[in-house]
Amino acid sequence: MRAVDIIEKKKHGEILTSEEINYMVIGYTEDKIPDYQMSAFLMAIYFMGMNKEETSNLTLSFVNSGDRVDLSMIEGVKVDKHSTGGVGDKISLIVIPLVASVGIPVAKMSGRGLGHTGGTIDKLESIEGFKVELSEKEFIDNVNKYKMAIVGQSANLTPADKKIYSLRDVTSTVDSIPLIASSIMSKKIASGADAIVLDVKVGSGAFMKSLDQAKDLARKMVDIGKSLGRDTIAVITNMDQPLGYEIGNANEIKEAIRVLRGQGAEDETKIALTIASYMCVLGGAFESFDSAYKSLKDIIESGKAIEKLKELIEIQGGDKRIIDNPENLPNANHHVEVKALRSGYISFIDAEEIGISAMLLGAGRRTKEDKIDYAAGISLKKKMGEYIKVDETIAILHTNLDDYQVSYDKVLSAINITDDRPEMKDYIHEIIK
Ligand code: URA
Repeated sequence: MRAVDIIEKKKHGEILTSEEINYMVIGYTEDKIPDYQMSAFLMAIYFMGMNKEETSNLTLSFVNSGDRVDLSMIEGVKVDKHSTGGVGDKISLIVIPLVASVGIPVAKMSGRGLGHTGGTIDKLESIEGFKVELSEKEFIDNVNKYKMAIVGQSANLTPADKKIYSLRDVTSTVDSIPLIASSIMSKKIASGADAIVLDVKVGSGAFMKSLDQAKDLARKMVDIGKSLGRDTIAVITNMDQPLGYEIGNANEIKEAIRVLRGQGAEDETKIALTIASYMCVLGGAFESFDSAYKSLKDIIESGKAIEKLKELIEIQGGDKRIIDNPENLPNANHHVEVKALRSGYISFIDAEEIGISAMLLGAGRRTKEDKIDYAAGISLKKKMGEYIKVDETIAILHTNLDDYQVSYDKVLSAINITDDRPEMKDYIHEIIK
């Protein structure tokens, strides 16, 4: 086999065999195929696409390039969730204790944030003592005993995807639906879950800017899951503005606590309950989505859900007292109020710009090597559709930096105010099964 012939075949839109796909993926991972040939191959996929079978085969090649997590020692159907990435997305922090509280095992591997999007692992590390590295035994024992555990992604999970993703980043081939679908699903499959619920974000702050694109991505990921023997459901959710009111790390933990106490923002409460309900249905705890949704709501109201988050913090070595005293989480030196320049309705909040502003305040990383300031972030005081008066506080910047002017101006220009109330979109657009 020769790489050039496989590139030529894809360039003409022909269907590749699993051997050809594997030859390219493994050859590149083992440094036998150079960057320039892989770049040409990726661009050919970008323009010519891949069918269902090719996309599944590409996923499998990524999975087989590294380790697989063996969760067979955990009893029950192991259910995972994944978000395609958003701003203020603290849904994992809410659904892990929620799903575990009905006895469905959640063995979660999560990532760190980069650029304008945050990562669950960073958010949890804002809790003093919280360990995100557990031995395999600890991880499995915790899931068997408490039905939940969360760790950072292991180094040798899907190394082919890691290497190819870095190349996609610099060859303008990130936004290819078969490449995104196989990249995400390979990590989920290598992580060992039996069933997967995907939160596919659509809108200004998401990878997918249109509903058609989001549906296409969701369908492809569900098809990959099914073809590789994993029950998969995708929930397409709105990301036209940040999720909830808090963007950052410690402040997102505070907001997750509020949701689990039944005092959360409407958008994230609804999305978290929807994702958790599908996880519980796939896990076999409930027959129907409606009965799962109702029971999980009751669990929040009964106080059991917040107790489960407290338990998660405790078993992973964190200071569980922050549940009752969230003010003890890291706090910044400056809390700067951003004031509205005019009165009117909030018609748009550019989630990506808000995410970048939070990163500039110290809450995120520009490069993988950057250190995070857990206290930094942004609290929105108003969301789309709400009315604001001139000079009223629209957002608060939390930072330890003395120079925050760039973020201040960015936040101000990311929030549009108009005379007319905007038409509001649903939080949940569609479910793809
Ligand atoms: N997230 C991933 O893990 N991979 C992609 O290709 C895009 C988003």
